[in-house]
Amino acid sequence: MGVVVLDFGSQYTLLIARRLRELGAFSIILPGTTPWEEIQAHRPHAVVLSGGPASVHDPDAPRPDPRLLSSGIPILGICYGMQLLVHLFGGEVARSDRREYGRADLVRHEGPLFRGLEGELGVWMSHSDAVVSLPRGWKAIAATQECPIAAVADPTGRIFGVQFHPEVVHTPKGKEILRNFLEIAGVARNWRPAEIVSSLIEKVKKEVGRERVLLGVSGGVDSCTLALLLAKAGVEHLAVFVDHGLLREGEREEVVQALRPLGVNLRVVEAQKRFLSALRGVTDPEEKRKIIGREFIRVFEEVAWEEGPFPYLAQGTLYPDVIESAGNPGAATIKTHHNVGGLPEELGFELIEPFRELFKDEVREVARVLGLPDEIRLRHPFPGPGLAVRILGEITEERLQVLRRADAIFIQALREAGLYRDVWQAFCVLIPLRTVGVVGDTRRYGYVVALRAVTSVDGMTADWARLPQEFLDQVARRITRQVPEVGRVVYDITSKPPATIEWE
Ligand code: XMP
Repeated sequence: MGVVVLDFGSQYTLLIARRLRELGAFSIILPGTTPWEEIQAHRPHAVVLSGGPASVHDPDAPRPDPRLLSSGIPILGICYGMQLLVHLFGGEVARSDRREYGRADLVRHEGPLFRGLEGELGVWMSHSDAVVSLPRGWKAIAATQECPIAAVADPTGRIFGVQFHPEVVHTPKGKEILRNFLEIAGVARNWRPAEIVSSLIEKVKKEVGRERVLLGVSGGVDSCTLALLLAKAGVEHLAVFVDHGLLREGEREEVVQALRPLGVNLRVVEAQKRFLSALRGVTDPEEKRKIIGREFIRVFEEVAWEEGPFPYLAQGTLYPDVIESAGNPGAATIKTHHNVGGLPEELGFELIEPFRELFKDEVREVARVLGLPDEIRLRHPFPGPGLAVRILGEITEERLQVLRRADAIFIQALREAGLYRDVWQAFCVLIPLRTVGVVGDTRRYGYVVALRAVTSVDGMTADWARLPQEFLDQVARRITRQVPEVGRVVYDITSKPPATIEWE
């Protein structure tokens, strides 16, 4: 196995695991206080101690199992992780209320951890406490102007600490530092998502055997890839695609055309009328979400009864979801109805989640190997409740049609201009207000359509995309020309926070 990352509560822990995997080293995250036996069960070749908000002087400061420290396994402590190492090996960490935050430059650095990184090195700092004296035999191997002990090494040359954060992009050579650590530790770097496809297939086969598996396909990359995996594994399965009438133009056809030829047993459930009538007259966004979630479960339940029994339900849960729900039980429920979560227990499914250990970009890699077309594989995220939360207020068939056409024009224009992959998510929002305009000699009243395009890493925060003015101009012209119900096009220039990405 590769690397165990012990989590002491840093907001960057997931990034550490991700960077290590990008470097080809398999890594998993365990809570910082995990007992040694459990750590050892993963047979790690190295351990990383993450940063965290605590001070080593806090009476209840989280600490690693002491047996780890004497195990001889190479360790890298990051920020609080470095302070823990120094403190536990007998050095001194001084408490401070002053925070060093932001970019700094290493004025000095040496040794194998910095191999190949001569010259000035920018690093990202975010700490208050600081190491002021080292355990016996240890060495300071880097310094910044403010921080004379910015990195440390133990006398064996197998334990290191860095006060800065090599895992964030603001430390431009951070990945090289992590790579050096992996090399020093002798961690194999052969983890490639493409290569794990066959082990995923074997695992699924073994898990379900000859039993039948049910799964919901939303058209997103995770569920489509999951369906493909089951098909490739030769497992008996039924993939259910619920057309709730809130999909984008051509979406359903695209999914059907992508999955069926690749052997996915896909059933499309026509439920447009049912959803639209349940949503009639509803204007409150949360109410819309609730209704859609409820109807979705009902439809799914009906299929399960009709076509069952299905001992297994497959879900496209990803590693960040697992971590999120383990660390913060509240966080998981925000996402339930998005991916067929919250199905009633009476259905008695056994869950299988083959992607539990994968990040989204790794799933995209798996998808590529399995042959999922790029239009789906690299598609922007789309919310479970679909266009329902992109029509402000009541949803009607007419509004849906207007929005679908405008949205398709915007997305097509992004693709043509080569901008589609530069933005993280882009879509149109229909504001059902009529504003005035003139066409020829007559006044015309039309809807307002807002264009939304954002850049983001994970959707948690986002910036509005600086799309070229000429491009926006063309999109506005095309939409008003081709969709006469639209009288005005505006561009949303709000970031998240304070706004959210969606308008509802
Ligand atoms: P917000 O609007 O919260 O969106 O900034 C962040 C990301 O989540 C998506 N989103 C949803 N996804 N069900 C979903 O499956 C929802 O109810 C929902 N609301 C927002 C949104 O599209 C963006 O990618």
